[in-house]
Amino acid sequence: MRALALVMALVAAPVFAADFRILEGHGGPVMSADVSADGTRALTASFDNSVGLWTLGNDEVRWLEGHAAAVKTAIFLPGGLAASGGDDFAILLWDVVTGTLRTRLEGHEGQVAALAVSPDGTRLASAGWDGAIGLWDIATGERTGWLMGHDGAVNDVVFSDDGASLWSASADGTVRLWDIATGAEKRLVVRHGFGVNTLTLGDAWLAYGAVDGGTRVIDATTGDDLADLTLDRRPILTMALSPDGSELSVGDGQGFVMTVDTTSWDLIGDYRAAANGPVWALSYTSDGKSLIAGGIDDTAYVFPAHNALDAPIMATETRAFLNDPAKMSNGERQFQRKCSICHSLADDDTRRAGPTLAGLFGRKAGSLPDYSYSETVQRLGFAWTEDTVDKLFDLGPDHFIPGSKMPMQRITRPEDRQDLIEFLKDNT
Ligand code: HEC
Repeated sequence: MRALALVMALVAAPVFAADFRILEGHGGPVMSADVSADGTRALTASFDNSVGLWTLGNDEVRWLEGHAAAVKTAIFLPGGLAASGGDDFAILLWDVVTGTLRTRLEGHEGQVAALAVSPDGTRLASAGWDGAIGLWDIATGERTGWLMGHDGAVNDVVFSDDGASLWSASADGTVRLWDIATGAEKRLVVRHGFGVNTLTLGDAWLAYGAVDGGTRVIDATTGDDLADLTLDRRPILTMALSPDGSELSVGDGQGFVMTVDTTSWDLIGDYRAAANGPVWALSYTSDGKSLIAGGIDDTAYVFPAHNALDAPIMATETRAFLNDPAKMSNGERQFQRKCSICHSLADDDTRRAGPTLAGLFGRKAGSLPDYSYSETVQRLGFAWTEDTVDKLFDLGPDHFIPGSKMPMQRITRPEDRQDLIEFLKDNT
């Protein structure tokens, strides 16, 4: 039996006895899951090159074979169709009644990481790791547009409710908004810095999750921040919205799922859904009561969406939002958002990409014995002061200390730099 199933069976039998099910049969990790609008079927996409088409209830499966490489995404379309995309750069359209391949949509030059269907059911949008977003006419199978402008792989796409616009998330660290009719970029909506993996549109809000753990909600119209749901520095890989829109579940790179209430943005669930490895696939069943999740194991799991806080045994640690704005100074927020993924403030933390900042002020640049600095930093010869830290992020490491291993990043507002420096002075 697989690791996750084992853990769940052992520790959570009382909670899951009735409702916990396994969708078994894939021969590789499960990358995405989707449930049909009528709730009777589910799709799973897997590294084993196949798409599973499940009848929920008796959990019988039919395999849709046609991809020549790992399948990364599969979604239901209206009219008895489904679409899948994968590492073979192809998008396949399936007839889910007969289980047969209907059309092959080609043109991407990188893996197809995500698909979205327009609200009227006529168009498909594809997110490509070639940096392109494809727009396709579902009836004819023809490509009607390429949306170009991202500076890196596109990881996710989502249509606006009226179908006139599309949001996209990219490894280039941005979320962009596009006009479907003209194919033009309307707006750079978010500049997050770290790659953005996943998007979800709710009732007038847009949520996104990023590789640095950043989990945020913005107003879909104005782009204003609504909530910062960041829990941890774990990559956010997937999100699912319950059918009634009342809750959002978020899966991360270490097997955790958190659930938030989309009215109050309070944490209502936080538990481990995979014993090891990431949660890549996540989807609610149509009654909103269960989640289907998948990851490194060759199986998908169906379990109650609300086990979270009722099942303390599954909550392996108590977490709170990292960036509770009410409790955090601007300096701390700057540090959490822009530095903490690479730098610790503790004496003995050697696990991050950058050297610890403990004891920073007065310390000679590049002088920690346990850290392997670039030669550039070792040769700087100055000590870190308020002034040199200020310059570092006013000019950006690429200009102030060209050749250092620090990523290009500037903090353009002097107040933000000042607040960050105050925070560092108090905490290092
Ligand atoms: C993506 C990782 C990353 C991020 C984000 C990052 N740093 Fe760094 N930082 C590094 C690395 C790597 C080095 C070592 C550079 C070298 O050796 O060339 C470094 C070095 C430094 C140093 C020099 C330390 C010493 O011992 O000489 C300071 C100061 C510093 N960072 C501050 C910051 C601050 C403040 C932030 C946030 C505004 C930040 N860094 C964000 C990776 C990062």
